Amino acid sequence: MSEIKLRVMSGMRSTGPLHMGHYFGVLKNWIVLQEQYTCFFGAMDWHAQMGKYKESFEVDPIVRDNIAEWIAWGLDPQKCCIYVQSLVPETLELFMAFAVLTPMGWLERVNTWKDSTEEMKQTDTHNLGRFAYPVLQTADIAIMGASLVPIGKDQVSHLEISREIVRRFNSLYKAKLPEPKPLLTENAMVPGTDGRKMSNSYGNFIPLSEEPKALEKRIRAMPTDPQRARRENPGNPEVCPVYGYHKLFSSDEDLKWVVQGCTTAGIGCGDCKARLFSNINRLCEKPRETKKELLHNTNRLDAIIHDGVQRVRKEAQTTLKTVRAAMKFFGGVQS
Ligand code: TRP
Ligand code: SF4
Repeated sequence: MSEIKLRVMSGMRSTGPLHMGHYFGVLKNWIVLQEQYTCFFGAMDWHAQMGKYKESFEVDPIVRDNIAEWIAWGLDPQKCCIYVQSLVPETLELFMAFAVLTPMGWLERVNTWKDSTEEMKQTDTHNLGRFAYPVLQTADIAIMGASLVPIGKDQVSHLEISREIVRRFNSLYKAKLPEPKPLLTENAMVPGTDGRKMSNSYGNFIPLSEEPKALEKRIRAMPTDPQRARRENPGNPEVCPVYGYHKLFSSDEDLKWVVQGCTTAGIGCGDCKARLFSNINRLCEKPRETKKELLHNTNRLDAIIHDGVQRVRKEAQTTLKTVRAAMKFFGGVQS
């Protein structure tokens, strides 16, 4: 009996360089999933345009940067399919098929649309494309025939709509597209370096390919337990963002060392931060170099992407054929 692996699809919007939040929240899961499932991971450049089209930002270098980062941290193009959304135009055809059967009301209820209307109006992104964000996402998933989607909690409402759209499609056209389910994976929440919620506008994140000097500077600038105004004051690691980061990056032994040293004023915050720096840097060192090589060797990265896109498009074209047939489109001309 041959084993049929379930298909997993996920993507990241190509809006900028990746940081620790992307690694612990998304990428780390992908690296595990590629071993167990047939995986498709995409750089979502159309989704990036929805929020940034007016900035005439260059999406191409971001796509390259992100894909190089994924591979540097452990995604293996031999084990999963890595591709670029806009290079799979079949997706947009399926998007249209879904658009004709998706009631406005479903989309109006999505939190990210409902709640940020003011901001969207100010940035001129209160647009049809952005309104249809979850519909395009549904097409991304369904075009691969994927049934599992690893996503964060903030994306659950999008995926619910995806399920409803696919269900409606299947019942209207007697089709059998798989209904996507969220793959709830454990992912650590990474707080901002200042203890607040991590946010681009606060600048309180650590880029994955940060150079050592800049990394050290960032860590040195982190606030600590305010009770430790002086070296001789004992502190409480639980209220300190530096300890929050140790929990993500340091060994149990180091964690004990911090708790012991902090609560007894046995170590200074400088020592504590130096240890954190060296632990983070050790983790980032190799990926940082690998990424540099990948970005330098344009041909190799292009070949990986080209190969991924080819494989994805083959799947996409197969799906599209069944979709067109199910909708009883004109079937006479083979393209
Ligand atoms: N919405 C996702 C994000 O915010 C990106 C994305 C686009 C995606 N299409 C998808 C994720 C399909 C999972 C499945 O990064
Ligand atoms: Fe924070 Fe470490 Fe200083 Fe304690 S010793 S307050 S955990 S930086």
